[in-house]
Amino acid sequence: MRSLIDILDLSPSELDELMDTAVEIERHPEKFRAACAGKKIATLFFEPSTRTRMSFEAAMFELGGNVLSMSEASSSTAKGESVADTAKVISCYADIIAIRHPKEGAALVAAKNARVPVINAGDGGHCHPTQTLADLLTIRREKGRFEFLTVGLCGDLKYGRTVHSLIGALSRFEGIRFVLISPRELSLPEYVKTEVIEKNGLSFSEVSSLEEALPELDLLYMTRIQRERFEAPAEYERLKDSYILTPEKLALAREDCCVLHPLPRVNEISVAVDNDPRACYFKQVQNGKLMRMALILKLLKEAEKPERENSRGEFLLEGKRCKNPRCILHTEQELPALLKKTAGGVCRCIWCESAVE
Ligand code: CP
Repeated sequence: MRSLIDILDLSPSELDELMDTAVEIERHPEKFRAACAGKKIATLFFEPSTRTRMSFEAAMFELGGNVLSMSEASSSTAKGESVADTAKVISCYADIIAIRHPKEGAALVAAKNARVPVINAGDGGHCHPTQTLADLLTIRREKGRFEFLTVGLCGDLKYGRTVHSLIGALSRFEGIRFVLISPRELSLPEYVKTEVIEKNGLSFSEVSSLEEALPELDLLYMTRIQRERFEAPAEYERLKDSYILTPEKLALAREDCCVLHPLPRVNEISVAVDNDPRACYFKQVQNGKLMRMALILKLLKEAEKPERENSRGEFLLEGKRCKNPRCILHTEQELPALLKKTAGGVCRCIWCESAVE
């Protein structure tokens, strides 16, 4: 069953196809009003959400379908039901599932157990591929291209799942250069640097000063410091105001720089920046709904096709277990400690992608 767990599950041509469909939906919404008549999406959100959940639900309504909605407090997850069992059960009620969960790898567990397509709506600090769909359509509309862009990513690059997915998507385009702007404690995970950016022959630099980086950027992707992922509250308090984009700082940026943010923002972009023509973060919200409509259409269509062979190169290594405390492996009932070997010979947990020694 075709699901979307990681942005790399979609080829560049499929991303193009989704963006074309999104634009077509915006131009001719009447053509799509009954496209999902009789279909249901289940939105399973075990973490707070405004945009992702509401846009999936709005998307399905605008396609003529229906929505089944569930949160942790109102479901049997609160009694201890596993993600795997939840996915099997929801497959009896819905045609497609969008799941957000605090544990890294939870969406993959759901996909391996569901009989309907599963969409990762954010798994802990790991991935958020549908935010990337929103980001990509915004970049295409604002910049007109993906190649040869200098992309600044600023804030919490360690736990910022939107950053990990966006880098994955952009790393497949020629001439992309990443400027990673973060405190040392919140720098991008090593595997994203080596196995995504460097593996694709792209370059990156790491700086701590936003002001230093701003003048060279085509895109600035601001992110929130993710309070909910910190183990020590005092560490969050120390780092929370690391970056605040103000009109004075934005004056250092190019006239055609495009400022993105997945939202929600806390205080990392001053409200006074919102009226600057370079501020594109509310456009991302609208583009997100269109892209989720396009994705629902694509996955439901593919669900009608015969199964494709799955060859993820997974294996079980006795005695070796992922030590990432945020990994679903440690909470899901009897989940096998599956690993995959990367091209560089590193063993990684298949659920959360952490290196396993
Ligand atoms: N960008 C994003 O994922 O927003 P929500 O957390 O509100 O869904």
